[in-house]
Amino acid sequence: MGDDSLIIAVDGPAGSGKSTLAKKIANILEIEYIDTGAMYRALTLKVIEAGIHPMHEEEVLKLLNNTTISFKNNHIYLDGIMVDDKIRENIINKKVSDIAKISKVREEMVNIQKELARSNNVIMDGRDIGTVVLPDANFKFFITASVEERARRRYRELIERGERNITYQETLQDIENRDRIDSTRKVSPLLKSSDSYEIDTTDKTIDQSVEEILNIIRGGK
Ligand code: DC
Repeated sequence: MGDDSLIIAVDGPAGSGKSTLAKKIANILEIEYIDTGAMYRALTLKVIEAGIHPMHEEEVLKLLNNTTISFKNNHIYLDGIMVDDKIRENIINKKVSDIAKISKVREEMVNIQKELARSNNVIMDGRDIGTVVLPDANFKFFITASVEERARRRYRELIERGERNITYQETLQDIENRDRIDSTRKVSPLLKSSDSYEIDTTDKTIDQSVEEILNIIRGGK
């Protein structure tokens, strides 16, 4: 990391609003935004399309060795094909935590993520960014919200996307399930590092949370 580079790590559970906030801040500060969850989602899409069970680690790893995941202009590409929409489908929400808990998968992803931050000013969001991927980040934020509020947001998002066979209750259960897997897995569980600023977005507008984060960043590096 160069002396004058700006590296921002953003972590938090599903539906906390971290991607929305990180994207806005990237725009305002004119830095690169990297959505690491999208990388785990892209691999999950490939696993599902290949008909592989997410628990069959060896087969997942074999597939990973023949997979290219890249970003261009804030779009994500799986083997050269843009998959922005496909990776947000509910089937991916349900399976992605099982893929993200495989340690060899995480090793590969973390290497790519470190590399992406080496040559750019970035804001990167995920679950282990401040703890594992970018431990020397200039700023670390941990974004939270109540589980009910996060489920409401995710449910709204799914309905807007046109998903029909889903209820709020089911979305809440899925989020609770993902929280449990993401927070209790052996490798890099979701944790708030002691040097991160916690931002609770439950009763705030997006703009209020953006302002809170920007005030901290502008307060000094
Ligand atoms: O942020 P998201 O909902 O797009 O993340 C999808 C899944 O990927 C989530 O269940 C946890 C996992 N993930 C992870 O383990 N580490 C990251 N850095 C980012 C996401």
